[in-house]
Amino acid sequence: MENGGSRQAGMAELQEVQITEEKPLLPGQTPEAAKTHSVETPYGSVTFTVYGTPKPKRPAILTYHDVGLNYKSCFQSLFQFGDMQEIIQNFVRVHVDAPGMEEGAPVFPLGYQYPSLDQLADMIPCILQYLNFSAIIGVGVGAGAYVLSRYALTHPDTVEGLVLINIDPNAKGWMDWAAHKLTGLTSSISEMILGHLFSQEELSGNSELIQKYRNIITHAPNLDNIELYWNSYNNRRDLNLERGGAVTLKCPVMLVVGDQAPHEDAVVECNSKLDPTQTSFLKMADSGGQPQLTQPGKLTEAFKYFLQGMGYMASSCMTRLSRSRTASLTSAASIDGNRSRSRTLSQSSESGTLPSGPPGHTMEVSC
Ligand code: BEZ
Repeated sequence: MENGGSRQAGMAELQEVQITEEKPLLPGQTPEAAKTHSVETPYGSVTFTVYGTPKPKRPAILTYHDVGLNYKSCFQSLFQFGDMQEIIQNFVRVHVDAPGMEEGAPVFPLGYQYPSLDQLADMIPCILQYLNFSAIIGVGVGAGAYVLSRYALTHPDTVEGLVLINIDPNAKGWMDWAAHKLTGLTSSISEMILGHLFSQEELSGNSELIQKYRNIITHAPNLDNIELYWNSYNNRRDLNLERGGAVTLKCPVMLVVGDQAPHEDAVVECNSKLDPTQTSFLKMADSGGQPQLTQPGKLTEAFKYFLQGMGYMASSCMTRLSRSRTASLTSAASIDGNRSRSRTLSQSSESGTLPSGPPGHTMEVSC
């Protein structure tokens, strides 16, 4: 009995362990040199870091991080993942830090008016102008996904594609506000932000990853700045996306959410508002709030197929990645019942997934 009991306890412990994919850079695969710049904009200065060199006739990959993070804590695991190198060597990357989130940022003075998310989006043209870049593929998480979507709505001609992780395109309703205010009575800002980034299961599991991010956020010297970005996120306007309506994203979009993420419902709803012929929906199995941190390999593979669908990364260029995996579409049905057009890509933990080809088509690929 005792043995059975302790075995059961052991299994319960085992189930709570979240496996994080690891595949560091190979010897010889060194990270490219980075150059950090700041530009003045009508809404204050913004800092961004450029990796790689511009490639002729190719857009830049531009990232925007979520609240509580900066470009490194949000995207380093993904962009330094071994398999990602084959993709990103073909693109220059611009990683934006929201104002006051860059490493070593001083705390804003009391009374400082932090930009709204719409104003953060309006800073992006200043960055592109400074770099003389005319087109981007945006990769955003949470608040950053909202900022990039807003930018894409106002500057559709400059956005070739969007990867939106954990996007919530809706303004907070009064029910959300009531819940937010109640939580605020008992929780610190850092706990509220952790609850935005990770699921309750992940937080109570307290894995090394959670300990790391709890530590980063709780002890951030710029926590007051983080609170300002958090407030802007909570005060966001509705993007007013409407399928077939005037306000819609025109470029190919890959929506990504973990199947245990706090924002799963919001992303599902967002999918229902986008053009199904332009949208792929990737729900990642066994994944919590930050799939780019915990499942960079699967996300890299999805990103590869997304780029291929846009006409980049011909399969002949994809040497190691292409040969090392078999991709198969495990589920091809839109969650809103429009089976014929948009794609839902549910990933199982064992198999890779994802079709190539333009969004709106379903394909099974073995490469
Ligand atoms: C990049 O190569 O784009 C990258 C490297 C380190 C951190 C984030 C991004």
